[in-house]
This record gives sequence, structure tokens and C-alpha cells, in this order.
Amino acid sequence: MHRIAPSILSADFARLGEEIRAVVAAGADLIHFDVMDNHYVPNLTIGPLVCEAIRPYASVPIDVHLMVSPVDRIVSDFAKAGAGIISFHPEATLHVDRTIGLIHECGCKAGLVLNPGTPLSYLDHVLEKLDLVLIMSVNPGFAGQAFIPEALAKLAAVRRRIADCGRDIWLEVDGGVKVDNIGEIASAGADTFVSGSAIFGTKDYAATIAAMRAQLAAA
Ligand code: DX5
Ligand code: ZN
Repeated sequence: MHRIAPSILSADFARLGEEIRAVVAAGADLIHFDVMDNHYVPNLTIGPLVCEAIRPYASVPIDVHLMVSPVDRIVSDFAKAGAGIISFHPEATLHVDRTIGLIHECGCKAGLVLNPGTPLSYLDHVLEKLDLVLIMSVNPGFAGQAFIPEALAKLAAVRRRIADCGRDIWLEVDGGVKVDNIGEIASAGADTFVSGSAIFGTKDYAATIAAMRAQLAAA
């Protein structure tokens, strides 16, 4: 089962509702929602108000990627705003296990995000509590960056850890995912694919997502 999660960071923000409708109609499985705070990452994007505003346009779950520090205070705001999944970076919170519990108490699925330089040891003791692991294949903060190939080995290692743990934990990848490399990334073990510029930068979202699915089927 492969899921495609277009990142609205590369959508036309002046027509955000329309863009979300279009990408869902084109076959998106999730809407990836990038939250940046100009503190944990050097960029500033959108918050719970925008999440709430787009909820009626998104007939698929909203996959909130928090690139903010601190994390805990904002979690319930996103849950109330309609998030389905909330993922955070372990370096951005003081108590990783507490933050996971908080996300679950709010009724959302919880994900942990590992940057290119963040070790897998952050998964020790908490993996079995997670619904999703997100491997960053770029350094977070901007759309349109090149895929960092070391992410492939990291995905394969997390796939093994998930198999050992025996729970249905999604393995998501974020950054530089395109039609050209999605097959190789799937072979490394990812099942959920964030893609921003490679979808919203094309004219025909349905054709692009179909091309991605064709690559996934062949992988
Ligand atoms: C980067 C964000 C990504 C970004 C991906 O910090 O987390 O979700 O939108 O954009 P592309 O697919 O263009 O690399
Ligand atoms: Zn993201």
C-alpha cells in the first residue's frame, strides 16, 4: 500500500482551497501540511487557522508536519483544527514520549520526524508508540531541494526496525521526491511519499500522481 501526500507548501496560497480540491481529485491520499516557525527552521509558514480553513476542502486526512519548537502547546490547536496525523522533530521537544502521548490524547496519529543528521536512536523506547516515522530526505525549511541519497539507507534501516516491532507503522519520506526517484525510494522501504514542487510545479496533477503510481507499481 503506497500513499502519496502532496505538500501544499508548493501550492498557490492565493487559491489554497481550490488547489487542495484539485490535488485530492487528482488522487492524493493525504494532504501534507508544513508548519514552520522561523525558530526551529529558518522559514515561516502556516498555522492552525489555515488548517481549520482548508479542512472542508480536504476529504483526505491532513498530515501535519510540525517544524516548530516548542511542540506541546500547539498540538491541541492542530487537533481542534482538524489534523489527522501530527508529526514532530524529537530535537524540538524536551520530552519525546510525553509529546507522543499528548498527540494521542488529542485523538490524532503521532509521527516522529528524523532529519538527515538525526540518528535512528531517537526511535529507541518509543517506536512501538508511533503511528508513523518520517525520514527527511532534505534539511527541513524549504520546498524544492534535492533528495539526499543517504536517506535511502536510513529508510531501509527503519523498515527493518518496523518489521521487528511488528506493528503497522507508516514509513514516510519528505524532500526531493519526484516521478524519477519515487520507485527507488519505495524499494528502500518507504510507503508514504511527501511531494511538493514535483506535483504542484506541474500543470496536470492527476497525470503526475498517476506517473508516480506507475513507478511505485513497477518498484
Ligand atoms: C521541507 C518540507 C517538505 C517540502 C517538500 O521542509 O517539510 O514537506 O514541502 O518539498 P519538495 O517535495 O519540493 O522537496
Ligand atoms: Zn514536510
